[in-house]
Amino acid sequence: MATITTPPAPPPTTNGTPTPDTLFSPTLISPTVLAALPEGYTMRPLQRSDFHHGFLDVLRVLTVVGEVTQEEFDERFDQMKAGAGGYHILVILDGEDKIVGTGALIVERKFIHHLGLVGHIEDIAVAKDQQGKKLGLRIIQALDYVAEKVGCYKTILDCSEANEGFYVKCGFKRAGLEMAHYY
Ligand code: ACO
Repeated sequence: MATITTPPAPPPTTNGTPTPDTLFSPTLISPTVLAALPEGYTMRPLQRSDFHHGFLDVLRVLTVVGEVTQEEFDERFDQMKAGAGGYHILVILDGEDKIVGTGALIVERKFIHHLGLVGHIEDIAVAKDQQGKKLGLRIIQALDYVAEKVGCYKTILDCSEANEGFYVKCGFKRAGLEMAHYY
């Protein structure tokens, strides 16, 4: 008996059309993850106005951010947005419109693996008083959803030993070794 095989779908090459103020298309936010957030919380792509919603403060739980002016923030936002669909920074807001969590997926375009796309998860941060509510897990699930939707064949990240358990709970496994040059 003949078997019918469906040819693999070509990988999407864009991240949808973002609205003027958002970094990427809101259609890439997983409906399943949205439904799983605590009551009153929401998730959406980073917006230019998030300079005023505590975005940089959330990142301060992760590392040094420095004093970034609104002009500098806007300039970086525009550079990311112009970056051929590579930058997907999303935020979680509590019921008061305050940003309580964020995470980034950067899509790298390759020549190898037949013009493959690789996702890089970066800068995951949940406000100190919001940790332990599965917001970190939802951020990773949402970034995984974006990566799969835009056609990445894998997603990778670097983390400290102290956070390995968190990423294992999110479905990641140890692979390889990080090397770094600091300048
Ligand atoms: N080690 C082991 N398990 C952990 C850890 C950890 N460090 N953190 C959370 N978990 C577990 C939780 O107990 C939970 O397990 P359960 O499902 O059995 O209950 C599961 O992982 C999911 O936890 P969440 O509640 O979703 O985690 P949270 O919202 O607190 O976010 C995060 C975790 C992002 C690490 C947060 O603690 C944080 O912002 N830390 C400071 C900044 C930081 O270190 N960010 C990661 C940097 S690495 C990178 O950006 C690629």
